[in-house]
Amino acid sequence: MHQFFEIFGKQPTLFASAAGRINLIGEHVDYCGGPVMPASLNLCCAVYAAPNGTEFVNVYADDLQETAHLPLSDLDSCKSLHWGKYQAGVLSVLKEEGYPLMGCDLYYSCSVPFGSGLSSSAAIEVATAVTMCALAGKEYDLKELAVLCQKAENTFCGVNCGIMDQFASAMGRKDKAILLNCKTLEYEYIPLELGEYELIVANCKKPHALVTSKYNERRAEVDEALALLQKELPSARCLADITPGEFERAKHVLPPLLEQRARHVVLECARVREAAAALRMGDIKSLARLINASHDSLSKLYEVTGKEPDALAYAARETDGCIASRMIGAGFGGCTISLVERGKTEAFKKAVGEKYHAATGYEAKFYDTSIEDGVTVYKL
Ligand code: GLA
Repeated sequence: MHQFFEIFGKQPTLFASAAGRINLIGEHVDYCGGPVMPASLNLCCAVYAAPNGTEFVNVYADDLQETAHLPLSDLDSCKSLHWGKYQAGVLSVLKEEGYPLMGCDLYYSCSVPFGSGLSSSAAIEVATAVTMCALAGKEYDLKELAVLCQKAENTFCGVNCGIMDQFASAMGRKDKAILLNCKTLEYEYIPLELGEYELIVANCKKPHALVTSKYNERRAEVDEALALLQKELPSARCLADITPGEFERAKHVLPPLLEQRARHVVLECARVREAAAALRMGDIKSLARLINASHDSLSKLYEVTGKEPDALAYAARETDGCIASRMIGAGFGGCTISLVERGKTEAFKKAVGEKYHAATGYEAKFYDTSIEDGVTVYKL
């Protein structure tokens, strides 16, 4: 890799990568202990690495052409960095947990678009954690690393995210969706066989604004809703423990806005269970209905979509060959997934791009995606 040589003056000794993700269904429920169904993408964060014998981890981004120097002895000083903050967070948590860390040079090449709802931050975190372990020759458990990466994002980066993204990035498998219970971290793989349909990922290209603060605001709302519902349902440990029937009986304790938020979570959890059964049975029409219902709920009840993601999803749904479309990820911009008949995908992209542009003035971007293993690591 001659670019590594140009930047760091030596050859890399290790390659590691971790994936971005889509999520079939189960949005804004991971932090409520709910089930989710993500899958890891071919879009990933790749890291080329070599030890450097210093007390610094130097991280270079090939797109920004920028290097941050992270001092292992004072990682807190990196909290305000734009580039390097996520890596510093991971290093800081690994250090706290007693993982061996060594000074090294890391070259990042990330094909997951930033701020797109495809989890570029989780990909960077997981790739960094795996690289640090592999360089130090330390055995690691990918599930445990995913949890530590989430902790880094929560405590160091100030984003109160759930576990879905880091888990999908670390544990994804080729051509499989992961059915993950975010309360227990039990999981199983379900073959992502969509019959005559293909998944199309589209980016609405609206610059994200205030995602972190709105995301944290939703978390606070559902925490408050849970505390109120527990007066009626004392055995519920999280919103995902509440069935739709129990919710109907207990909802009178909630003010209207919190009822709306909690209703999204309770019904979305039920939809994920139905969707997993539908996917296993090859019932793609039912899966499509649930995916559409998920978007509508995110839009109307949870209010995390916004004009552009709504326009993109609805333009997709009214286009020939498309049976489902929804926004994925935190929201307020980002990407959609659509289920589109094979053979109609090129016409679909063209038509949706035009309709979306007419409605919003933005150019949607479509990606060539496939579902691949989450993590790859090898010595060079
Ligand atoms: C972001 C977070 C995840 C999850 C999704 C919404 O991607 O990182 O933990 O909450 O939003 O489902």
